[in-house]
Order: sequence, then structure tokens, then C-alpha cells
Amino acid sequence: MSRLYNVDIIKPNTIFQGFYMCGIMGYTGSLDAAPILLEGLKKLEYRGYDSAGIAVMDKNVISMSKVSGRIAHLCEKTNDGKLFSGHAGIGHTRWATHGAPTDTNAHPHMSNDGKFAVVHNGIIENYLTLRDELKEKGYRFDSQTDTEVVVHLVEMYFEGDFRKAVMKAASRLQGSYALGVLCSDEPDKIIAVREYSPLLIGVGIGDNYFASDVTALVQYTRNVIYLDDGEFAEITKDKITVYDCTGKEINKEINHISWDIQAAEKGGYEHFMLKEIMEQPGAVKATITPRMKDNEIVWDESGLDKLDLKNVNKIVITACGSAYYAGCVGKYVIEELCRIPVQVELASELRYSNPIIDEHTLLIVLSQSGETADTIAAMKECMKRGAKSLSVVNVVGSTIAKIADYTVYTWAGPEIAVATTKGYTTQVSILYLLALWMGKKAGTLDETLYQKLYDNVKMIPKAIQNALDLNPKIPQLAKKYHSSKAMFFIGRNTDYAVSLEGALKMKEISYLHAEAYAAGELKHGTIALIDDHQPVIALCCNSSLQEKTISNIVEVKARGAEVLAVTYKDNSNIISVADDVIYIPQIESILSPVVEIIPLQLLAYYVAKENGCDIDKPKNLAKSVTVE
Ligand code: AGP
Repeated sequence: MSRLYNVDIIKPNTIFQGFYMCGIMGYTGSLDAAPILLEGLKKLEYRGYDSAGIAVMDKNVISMSKVSGRIAHLCEKTNDGKLFSGHAGIGHTRWATHGAPTDTNAHPHMSNDGKFAVVHNGIIENYLTLRDELKEKGYRFDSQTDTEVVVHLVEMYFEGDFRKAVMKAASRLQGSYALGVLCSDEPDKIIAVREYSPLLIGVGIGDNYFASDVTALVQYTRNVIYLDDGEFAEITKDKITVYDCTGKEINKEINHISWDIQAAEKGGYEHFMLKEIMEQPGAVKATITPRMKDNEIVWDESGLDKLDLKNVNKIVITACGSAYYAGCVGKYVIEELCRIPVQVELASELRYSNPIIDEHTLLIVLSQSGETADTIAAMKECMKRGAKSLSVVNVVGSTIAKIADYTVYTWAGPEIAVATTKGYTTQVSILYLLALWMGKKAGTLDETLYQKLYDNVKMIPKAIQNALDLNPKIPQLAKKYHSSKAMFFIGRNTDYAVSLEGALKMKEISYLHAEAYAAGELKHGTIALIDDHQPVIALCCNSSLQEKTISNIVEVKARGAEVLAVTYKDNSNIISVADDVIYIPQIESILSPVVEIIPLQLLAYYVAKENGCDIDKPKNLAKSVTVE
């Protein structure tokens, strides 16, 4: 009889917290604000950023300094903040999403009349519509960011009441945001707003603060108020007043932080990898939501809408490592929904393969970092032969993004652990959107199926959240399996594609020999390796091929294997054949890869932990492979 590790069906109202890309901080008190902001921003550096800036209010004037690159450069430029006087200010570390990492795109952003300055963490999904509206009303835009609409909205709605203007502006925003706003009419006041992006107020004595991340605050105060979604705070040096979204004053509890700085950096998790695993519902949501509007897939910022699909007779996906495995999922999905032949090629092989590629080839390049040397070389080779290139990249302004004809960003935020998790799931999510978009455009996807899949794609963040609820059970499984010498991952079709990534996760962080096999290939050789107690992880989420995979499970069981199956909640057939079962929430089969990888990431993580490995920095590996 198998042991069951159960996950509930998707919970409808799960809210994804704790995912963020940029870092924000604010101070108001009796000291000079600039040095305090710079010290706070330095504590946010660990999360990765590409530009930084501060704005300080002195009497009724707001001054700003922004740089692309490091905070050290900002310190140099401002003489460690001494060039500014003023006791209230806001600061920002930016991880570029909308617009390259330039000085102009760095935050804060200022209103045209110089009265307001804003820092923002999150994504404003309706910024294009708002930008058009504001431009029509005569507001000048200096940056390419989504954030700049916020400051112009505040200016537009200001009729003498700072808080009312911010509330009105916020009511127009869709997406996720934590905001800090200055108004030169009220020189010691900051207004902070939260919606789906973390924000806390630091409570001092004669000094108060806000930040997106507790690490920026612990050097100044350990007493904090956590804002909830829809809440606003008016912060002055002596007073903090919190309001709900209707403007009603509310009482908030003050919490004491006891984490040390290292625990705080990891959001209380032991490793960045675990933190990043947990961030996946938010990362996928941030990546897909702005591209899903009124039952259509939209590619506003990439210009991809202009791609002439009629001219494409073949798709080549190229990448390395996990990104390549994301491409393997993409092949099944695109071929199924769009009926266009897809080749997935390892970039290191493709670059030297004299590939058959011409102007009718669409090249899809996947890369978290955007800097992988082999991927860049393969891409250049294919583009030389006439291919149109579409890159799916997480780092704005990276080499691959710059070279590509079209770029769609995965808005996963900085990934610090060497083993990718949210990088992979956001890439797979973009491939789903592409397949839906191309299938509809090419007419290979009928309206009913399109709608069904569209609705299911929207549910992916919740499904991932649900799969994460397995967390308390996975460590037990890791204890059972961690001392094995080898581990096999099997599956068919999309399950096979996921087993490749599951095995890579296991080997790269736990150093355990893990291999993925197409389940139907076992009999052609590999089954000779199956012996008593050999762990086999069987992926069984592709509904149409489940029976076939069950036969393979039975075959390896008959040779003594210990089988851990991953399947859907309602799949009782597996219980009688596998030793252990992990369930994932029900979702359309073709979309299951992005969910079934979650327990495999957790399993790899906990096996590595059992084995005492350096999880965030596995031996011999680098985060970004910028040499051949
Ligand atoms: C996987 O966990 C890796 N660290 C590695 O395989 C990675 O996916 C590969 O090097 C590609 O990197 P990229 O996405 O930054 O191009």
C-alpha cells in the first residue's frame, strides 16, 4: 500500500505574497536622510539590482540622484549622501523590467511640476493605457518605465490633499505595487501604499521608515508594522497613521523582528533556493498576468504582435541546461497546439552543427541570465542564416535581449541560487502563452479549446501554490531516498520533458547520480540498471499516456525498484502500484509540467539538505556560464 502525500485542489482565493523585484526604502526623522537611505539600500544589494537612486526633500524642494550600476557609484556621486540635506527621503534599487537599466529609468521618478517623487516595487499592468491617457493630457514622460505613470497620476489628482491624490492614483492602478511617495508641500511626510508587493513600516523614536524588505531596516529598528494589501500609511517623524483602501483609519500591530541579517536576506528561509521555489506563484503571476487581457494574449512591449507567422514553417528552440529543458516542454506544447514542427537544440551543439535554418525559421532563445555564451553564439549563427529570433529572457538589457529581433521578458525577479527554479517555470509559462497565441493566430486551435486552456493558464499560479503545500511532506521522502547512489526519473511526452529538469535539479545540488529516461525506452537498455530498492521517480501527469507509464512502473517494481510517483489527486490507479505518491492539483494535462516540477524541486532541495550540500552554490557550478 502506498503512502499518500496529498495536496488539495486549487484554493480559489490564495494571494501570493513576498515576491518582488526591486527594493525600496524611505526615511523621515531628525537626521539627514541621504546617508540613512544609502546604508539601507546597501543592505538590499544581495537581491540583485542594476540601478539605484534616492530623492530627498529639503524644505519644499525635492532633489534626486540616480545611477545605473552599483550603489557604490551612487555613494560616490552624492559624496556618501553628504551632497543632500533634508530629513525625509526615498530610495530604490531597481531590477529592470520595463525599460533598460539606465540612469533615466532608475527610480525615483518625479512629477513634471517637481512636486512629487515616487519609488515603486512591482509591476503596473495597465501602464500603457494610463500612459496614453496621461500623454494626451499633456504629461511628459522621461522614462520607459511602468512606474512613471504613478507619479503623473498623483500630480493629476492633487488638489491640495496629498493623501487623497495618492489614494486616487492607486485606485487607477492594476498590478502589484509597493509605493513610497514624497510631496514637496509636506516636507516631513511620506505616503506608503501596498498592493500585492511587500511593504513594512519601521517604527523608531523620532524617526520612522518604510521598506520592501526587513534587511534594509534592521540596522535602524526591529519594530515594524506590516502593511496589508490595499493599505496606505502616512509616515512622519513622530507619527504613523495607517488607512484601509476606503480611507478609514485602522489600528495595526507592531511586531518585533528577531531575525539576524542573513536570515532576513533569505526572507527567513534557510537558502535562497527555497525562497525562490516559494516565490514561484508570484513570479509566474507577474509574468503571465500582464500578457493576458480580455481573453487575448498581448505582447505590447515586445512588438511580437508584428511577427508574420505565415512566413514561419519551422521553429527552432535553443538554450542550455534548464532553459533547454523548458524548451523540451515547449516543443510538445507548440507542436500540439500550433502544428508547426519544433526542433529543440542544445546551444552548444547547434552553434557547430551547420544548421538547416533560413528566413522561414523562427528561433526561440531561452535564457534566464541572457548572457550564456553558447546560447549567444548559437543565436548569432542562426540569425546569420536568416532566422527571426525571439528571446525569452529574465534580465532586461542583457546581451541576448539586445541581439534578438523580439524579446519577451520573464518577470521572475533576480534569481540568486545557482540552480534555477523560478527562471524555469516562468520560461515554461511564456511558452504556454506563445503556443496559445500562435495556435489562435494560425487557426490550429479551436475557440473552445483556446478558451479552456486560456482559463487554465490563468490558474497556474494558484496550482503552483497548491503544489507547494506539499512542502511539509517532502522532507520525509528526502530522508527515505537521500542515501541512494542513483535515482531515475521516468515519464512520457510532457512528463518526460519534466523528468529531464527534475533529474538535473537532483544532480546539480545533491550530487546524486540522477538520470531521466523516456519511460518507453526502459526496455531498450536502461531497465538493466534497476535493482532492489533502486529509486525511480515516475511522472504520471500526462493523462492520455498514464496507463502506459503505469505499465512501466509495474515493470520496474517487478525488478525491485522503489517507486515515487507524481500524479493528480484523482488518480487512484497509481496508489496500488507505487510505493509513495505525491499529488499535484488537477490541471489540463498539457499545462501540468509547470506544476509537477514543483515537488521535484523540493525533493532535490531536501535531498541536498540531507546530504549536507552547499545548496545555493553547488560545487563546480556558476550561475551564469559566460564562457564556452
Ligand atoms: C540550472 O539550474 C542551471 N543553473 C543551468 O542549467 C542554467 O539553466 C543554464 O546554464 C542556462 O542558463 P541561462 O538560462 O542563464 O541561459
